[in-house]
Amino acid sequence: MQTQILSANKADTAATAAQIIKDGGLVAIPTETVYGLGADGLNEAAVAKIFAVKGRPQDNPLILHVAGAEEIEKFCHDIPASAYALADAFWPGPLTMVLPARDTVPKCTTAGLPTVAVRCPDCDVTRQIIRLAGVPIAAPSANISGKPSTTTAQHVLHDHDGKIELIVDGGPCRVGVESTIVDLTEERPRLLRPGGITPEQLIAVLGDLVVDKAVTAQIDKDAVVKAPGMKYKHYAPQSEVIIVAGSREKAAAYIHRHFQPGDRVLCFEEELPLYTNCNPLSYGKESDASTLSAGLFAALRKLDDPGISKVYARCPEGGGVAYAVQNRLKKAAGFRIINGEDEL
Ligand code: TXA
Ligand code: MG
Repeated sequence: MQTQILSANKADTAATAAQIIKDGGLVAIPTETVYGLGADGLNEAAVAKIFAVKGRPQDNPLILHVAGAEEIEKFCHDIPASAYALADAFWPGPLTMVLPARDTVPKCTTAGLPTVAVRCPDCDVTRQIIRLAGVPIAAPSANISGKPSTTTAQHVLHDHDGKIELIVDGGPCRVGVESTIVDLTEERPRLLRPGGITPEQLIAVLGDLVVDKAVTAQIDKDAVVKAPGMKYKHYAPQSEVIIVAGSREKAAAYIHRHFQPGDRVLCFEEELPLYTNCNPLSYGKESDASTLSAGLFAALRKLDDPGISKVYARCPEGGGVAYAVQNRLKKAAGFRIINGEDEL
């Protein structure tokens, strides 16, 4: 199969993409978070192709992408008022809500769960494709399972050239990490994955939020978890990633003591001068966490190289979008964190 790339700006791109979706094919779609690997979310055979191409475990459900909040009643029931309040505040945008699923949603999309994840992406061409196709688009992040997510059309082509019909090129993704996921099916709203909508923003609307343990710690692969995707190793380059915490100076001293030829340093732009002899790669500014989220996956992809043995990574602290960056980087590191301050 020849994989076509069409610019999101071309007049007939949305119609071409929508026709492929209607015909049961696969289209990589741009969103404000990461590129998705999309198919008709109501077509079992089309959804099965996503799992096959991505190499995704069957027990990991997909997000249904909709064109607006008015569509969720078709796929969800017992929708709490809080869901509409969140949609009003943050849709279209990087927020996914988990709600009770109607029977209209096939089991392969929900991986057999009684719930379904829904999200309305902040990307004009993608919402237009959904409208023209007349079906919700099921789409996981477009990376091969376990690899860093795809934030450019070139990343998608690298992972899936010849395996999917079309990539819609909407340029680099603005947010750069996947959507925030909040589960609204329990008594209290639960954060399953941090993302572009921050915990602080959710609390401002919901007045309450429980943070699931999978957000902050490594979950055993046999554990029963709310978001099945959170238990799998993720985002990881081939080399070992180690987060070095602590002050700039102490972390640099630690890394200089341990650095071997063939290792790399993943750091903030402000720290580049500290690592001139360590082949450093910056993924954004520590002073602006949105640049870190936008740059993280492209940087992890650059470091996905069998010639690299260890990556010493610097991780931002604090809340806001930095919280999502911490979560992804800790997962990429398998939660291996060394405090540069501890070692004399
Ligand atoms: O930003 C995003 O959310 C991107 C773009 C393409 O929209 N999509 C994305 O999909 O990140 P994916 O499949 O890579 O991650 C979806 C996560 C997985 O961890 C999955 O287990 C969880 O959402 N999930 C999906 N349906 C769920 C459900 N019914 N209950 C709990 N978790 C669910
Ligand atoms: Mg993913």
